[in-house]
Amino acid sequence: MVPKENIVPIPQFHMNNPTLEAIFHRRSIRKYTDDPVEPEKLALLLKAAMAAPSAMNCKPWEFVVITDPEELSQFRKRLIFGNRNAPAAIVVCGNPSLSINPAARLFWVQDCSLAGENILIAAAGLGLGTVWIGVHPVASFVRVVREISGLPRHITPLGLIYVGYPAEEKPARTQYDEKRVHWQKYGKRKH
Ligand SMILES: Cc1cc2nc3c(=O)[nH]c(=O)nc-3n(C[C@H](O)[C@H](O)[C@H](O)COP(=O)(O)O)c2cc1C
Repeated sequence: MVPKENIVPIPQFHMNNPTLEAIFHRRSIRKYTDDPVEPEKLALLLKAAMAAPSAMNCKPWEFVVITDPEELSQFRKRLIFGNRNAPAAIVVCGNPSLSINPAARLFWVQDCSLAGENILIAAAGLGLGTVWIGVHPVASFVRVVREISGLPRHITPLGLIYVGYPAEEKPARTQYDEKRVHWQKYGKRKH
């Protein structure tokens, strides 16, 4: 639950911009209808993911898309913070061996996180709900997802994104906090 004082209403002028609208409307959705997600929409989400920037453009990501109800029920049962009824899920995986450059290899978490965020925002723009379930770096969660999805040892699941049509409504919002912003130097306020 977000404390009320942290919910800043979105000024109307932002809402004419579809990108900002999707960013502010994206919320973690934890209740879904039974409607399946159209395969074309899942494909668009993956295209959005792979449009993300990555260190030296090494793209150290792979994705496992799950629509099989039996497999989804395994995630629901075995991930303690992941018991959600979505009809689809995407495991965002890091494969550092795809980064040919040793320096770029260090950045696989950032690269895959950016790809994941693209999925969340693209889904919001398509009227879909999502929630990110954290996996890496919790060893027991990594083990569970590796087992269910059959991931080899060199592939690390960073997070699981549930995807579906929302059965709950949440307001668009920013959590903008002036105290977190410094101008020119740390500790210096604008005025
Ligand atoms: C790294 C990470 C891990 C998360 N893990 C979970 C999770 O295991 N279960 C869950 O329901 N939500 C999870 N979330 C969603 C956050 O709880 C959520 O983003 C936060 O409360 C803010 O709400 P909002 O997404 O509606 O803006 C996670 C988010 C991130 C970024």
